[in-house]
Parts: sequence; structure tokens; C-alpha cells
Amino acid sequence: MRIPHLIIKKKLNKELSTEEIKWIVENYTAGKIHDYQMSALLMAVYFNGLSDRETVDLTLAMRDSGEILDLSSIDGIKVDKHSSGGVGDKVSIVLVGIIGALDIPFAKMSGRGLGHTGGTIDKLESIPGFRTNLSIDEFIDNVKSINVAISCQTSNLAPADKKLYALRDVTGTVDNVSLIASSIMSKKLASGCDGIVLDVTTGSGAFMNDIEDAIELSKKMVNIGKILNKETIAVVTNMDEPLGNAVGNALEVAEAIQALKGYGPADLMEVVITIASYMLIVAKKTDDLDKAKDLIQSVIDNGSAYNKFIEFVERQGGDSSYVKNYDSLINASIIREVKAEKSGYIHRVNALNIGNASLILGGGREELDDIIDSSVGIYLNKKVSDSVKTGQILAYIYGNDEKKVNDAYKEVVTAYDIQDEVIDKPKMIIDIIK
Ligand code: URA
Repeated sequence: MRIPHLIIKKKLNKELSTEEIKWIVENYTAGKIHDYQMSALLMAVYFNGLSDRETVDLTLAMRDSGEILDLSSIDGIKVDKHSSGGVGDKVSIVLVGIIGALDIPFAKMSGRGLGHTGGTIDKLESIPGFRTNLSIDEFIDNVKSINVAISCQTSNLAPADKKLYALRDVTGTVDNVSLIASSIMSKKLASGCDGIVLDVTTGSGAFMNDIEDAIELSKKMVNIGKILNKETIAVVTNMDEPLGNAVGNALEVAEAIQALKGYGPADLMEVVITIASYMLIVAKKTDDLDKAKDLIQSVIDNGSAYNKFIEFVERQGGDSSYVKNYDSLINASIIREVKAEKSGYIHRVNALNIGNASLILGGGREELDDIIDSSVGIYLNKKVSDSVKTGQILAYIYGNDEKKVNDAYKEVVTAYDIQDEVIDKPKMIIDIIK
């Protein structure tokens, strides 16, 4: 096979065969296809798309490019969860306590944040001592002992996706549904789970800005799961304003702890409880959605979800005194108020602007090896549909550098849209695809 021939084939909108896709992925991972050739092929895929069959072939080829985790020694149905990314998304952290307390094995490989979106690994690392680089044996052992473990993706998990994703990131080819679907599903399939619940975000803070695109992405991923015999459910959620009130690593961990204690913001809890309910259904704990919601509420109300989270933090080396006294996690040297310049109702809090503000403060990475500052972030005091009077506080900015706080301030002001008319709270759960 010759790569120029395959690039031309895709440029002419013809389907690539299973063997051709396998050959491309193997040779690109091995460094035998140049980045400039792969970039051209990705752009042809971006414009002409991939058929469902091609998408499945790409997923499998990327899954098989590295090791596939064997979780078979862990009893029970192992359910994984993945979010397609967002701002203020601390859902996985809350799920650790809930799913673990309900005796369901939750073995989760997570990623770091990139760009304006946050990552679970970075958030958990704001707890002093917390280790995210577990060995495979430790990872499996922790799930066997306490039901839950979260670790950084090993470098050998779907390495083809790692290489391709980095190339897509710099060639303007990230936001294609087939490429995103195969990227996410290859990693989930390599992580050895039995079933998957996907949180597919849509809105200004997500990769998929349009609902139709998010639904199409969900259908593609659910279809891949079906073909490969892994039950997969996609929950399409609203990411037009940040989820919850806290954005930034330590601030988000503090909010996740509040949620586990029963004081989480309503929008965050709606997403957490919906995702957790479908995880219970995939794990065959119940087949009734209302029963699932009651079970989840009961472990929050009786404190076992919170206690499970403490056990999880201690097991991974974290200092649980920071969980018990979560205010001690928040130690930025500057706290700046952002005040409303007019009265009215909040119509929009643009998640992309808030994510960018967090990035400017040092809470995220522009390059993969940037060091992040876990203490910075934004706390939203007002969210969509809230009323506000001139001079009231819209948000607090937590930072450690005056210039960065000033730059972040502009983003936060831009994020807010205040109008005269009353507006309803946004709908958080947009669709369920199964
Ligand atoms: N998240 C992924 O893992 N891959 C993508 O392509 C986009 C979001």
C-alpha cells in the first residue's frame, strides 16, 4: 500500500477498506507515515467524513495499537464513564463516592485538561499527596479492595490515538464527529470495561457547539459500542454555561465534596444523578431509573458516598484532612470581585470565556507540559436565570498574579449577558441515546 494513493482515495470521497485503515494506523504509530501525509489524510477525512464501518475500523485499529487492560480479575460489571469535555465538569469526582458506595467497580483511566477544558487528573492532584500514576497492579488492587480507582492513562493505552489527537490539535481537525467518536471509544475499549456511559457535552464550553452534532456524535459512539458488544449509553448534557459554580482545580474538588455531602448545586446534581443512574442500569444494579435515583440519593443522604470518597483519597496517598476541611484547599493570594454593571436577569454565562479565564489564571495548560496552578479559578455567584442588581457580585476570581487576574477579569465580564426579561433555568439533560 502507498499513502499518497490512500490520501487521494479519501480526497475523492471513496471508502477506505478495513485493511487500509489498519495499515495506516499501524504505520503512522510506528513513525513510517510522515505527519504531513497524515495531516493531509485527516483533512480529507474532515471534509468527506467516515462511514460507520470506517469509523468502527479506525476505533479498533487505534484500540489495538497498544495494550488492552484486562480487568477480568475484578468481580462484577465494570462500568466506565467518559465526558467529551467541558468547564466546571467535576462529575467524575462526585461519581467516585456514589458508584463506589453502591458497590459497583469503577476503574477509571482519566486524562488531563487541555485548552479551556479541565481534566479529572489535574483536579484530583490539587489534594496534597494524591497519586494519579498508579501501576496497573495497584489500580486493579484498589478496585478490588475499595471498588474505585482513578489513574492517568498509561502511555501504552491507545498510543495511536495519542499521536493522532496531538496532530489533529494542531491541524484544525479535532471537531469531526467520526474522529472524536473513534478517539474516545478506542481509549474506553482499551481500558477493559464491560459497559460505558458517555457524557456528551454541547454548548459554548464543549467541542460540539451544536446539539445536532452532539447527538450525531452520541449515535456514532453508541453504534460502535453495539457492534463491539459493550453496552453504551450517551447522555447529551448542556455545557453552554459552566457546570456548577466552581471552575478551577481545587475549587472544583471543594464543590465535588460539597456535592457528596448533599449540598451540590442543582445543575451539577442533575447531571451527576442522571449519569450515575445510567451507570447503575448498565451495571445491572436495577433496571428502573427511579429506583436508581433513590439508591443514589440514599448513599448521599446516609454519608456513605462521602465516606467512600475519603477512603479513595487515602488509598491513593492523598491527605484526607483537606477533604474534611475543604476550605483549606482554597488558598489563592488574590480574590477579586466581579460586580454587575446593570440590573436584570442573567441570560448567559459563556463557558468558553470562563474556561479561558481559568486558563489565563494558570489553572489550565496551553501546552501539554505547562505546570498548572491548582489554587486559581472562578467562582460563579450568579448563573443563568438568576436576578441581579447593579453592584451585586457576579463572580469571584481567585488568582496569584495581578496581571493574570486583570486579564481573566475581562473574560469573566464578557461571559455575562444581563437582560431585562426573566428567563428559565437551562435544561441540563438534552437527550439520551442508547
Ligand atoms: N476527547 C477525546 O478523547 N478525543 C477527541 O477527539 C475529542 C475529545
